[in-house]
Amino acid sequence: MRRPVVEKLQQFVEKQPMSLHVPGHKNGYFGTLPKALRDSLPYDVTELTGLDDLHAAEGVIAEAQGLLANFYGASSSYFLVNGSTVGNLAMMLAATSPGDHVLVQRNAHKSVFHALELAHVTPIFITPEWDHRTETAAHVTLTGIQQAFAQFPTIRAVALTTPTYFGVASDLVEIVEFCHQQQVPVLVDEAHGAHFQGSDYFPLSALESGADVVVQSAHKSLPAMTMGSYMHYNSELVSQNRLEHALRMLQSSSPSYPIMASLDDARAYLASFTARDYHHLMDKRSLFLDSLQGLPGLDVVEVDDPLKLLVRIGQHAGHQVRDALEKQGVYVELAHGQHVLWMLPLLKYGEDYRFAELRSRVKRACEALKSVRPQALPVVTAVTANQLTQLEVPLEVVERSKGEWISYTKAIGRTAKGAIIPYPPGIPLLVPGERFTVKTLVQLEECLMGKAAFQGEHRLAERQVYVLEETKK
Ligand SMILES: Cc1ncc(COP(=O)(O)O)c(C=O)c1O
Repeated sequence: MRRPVVEKLQQFVEKQPMSLHVPGHKNGYFGTLPKALRDSLPYDVTELTGLDDLHAAEGVIAEAQGLLANFYGASSSYFLVNGSTVGNLAMMLAATSPGDHVLVQRNAHKSVFHALELAHVTPIFITPEWDHRTETAAHVTLTGIQQAFAQFPTIRAVALTTPTYFGVASDLVEIVEFCHQQQVPVLVDEAHGAHFQGSDYFPLSALESGADVVVQSAHKSLPAMTMGSYMHYNSELVSQNRLEHALRMLQSSSPSYPIMASLDDARAYLASFTARDYHHLMDKRSLFLDSLQGLPGLDVVEVDDPLKLLVRIGQHAGHQVRDALEKQGVYVELAHGQHVLWMLPLLKYGEDYRFAELRSRVKRACEALKSVRPQALPVVTAVTANQLTQLEVPLEVVERSKGEWISYTKAIGRTAKGAIIPYPPGIPLLVPGERFTVKTLVQLEECLMGKAAFQGEHRLAERQVYVLEETKK
């Protein structure tokens, strides 16, 4: 299978060229990095003759992006070198104008909220349905979207996320059809679903469902390097010129060739994924799951995405399970409530993944946990679906207003100036302009008890949050 960027880079490196150009490591000649890392630096080149330019692609990068679009069934596809983060920013900037109403699934990644801020739009948040298997917020429904349009006929774009971080996928076909009838584009953050295109057995992808612009973190489920993502465009409602302009503004003018090569390689890997590969993957996965049966206290929740497993060990909190596994040298994607999330590799026929070794380590962790007292966690609060909310205070007002630090126990009724983002998964508990409610406080307590890490603007170690100063009456 052709891999234009990989092939061209390889030819270039084999010529043992001498560098009188950036980057300063001169093909790895200078620097004190560990040898294995330094050895890869000859591939870390720049826009040299024959290597094309991501921002004005007409050679090997254009060819590779063409193969990508062809495989995913998009009219155009783009390599992203700053993750799905930059894709979420670019598609929002391209599809909206300042002041527009945008309908946004509330359990979106923080990059979607940053996109709303950058685009100066007015978000209308919609709560998704609760998924009882995983005890997480999942997807919005067609009814919810229709109600939102009935209440806000001025919605100009819809931003959805599927699958969720926890591998719950949704069918977008009817939602996209409905939005298109309203002449409104659907932007989909499919960061966790780049592999769905690889097999009819995987859930239906957002592009197959007719979405206008889709971003995918190739680095999450495909064998691509961190930060390597794809953006696909298939729209009569979003301007392609604006999308490309946004990407030119937001991405580095020196995009990484190793990342682009890995994106080219990952596309070829997925495009050659066959039904035989799928059955092999599922056989290996079943054998692994069978081998885990009988390990003391271990329970597995399977979700729509076969690469994700939610694992629970006895009554232990997720962070206790994570710590026990880490002591055995096993690192999980995240700990959440009572679970840890495992991500399996997209195996192909003939490939294996040290499952026997993994099982032995998991067994040792289960045994070690027997002598650890389980930390009791509160029952997780389910969200109520189809609730529409707006920011209490518009973002531009939040930006120019003064803030103050207060104890979070006194924050109910106050408006957030700083975001509180449990990370991972990176879905904000509260964004600037939203009001602290009793529910926010309960969810925050749940996260703190679950030993979540946080991003955003907060001092949670001192139990403080950043809110708008109260105006004196
Ligand atoms: C749903 C979702 N969207 C977007 C992102 C951002 O992706 P990236 O890390 O590729 O920038 C993430 C990252 O975890 C995510 O979970």
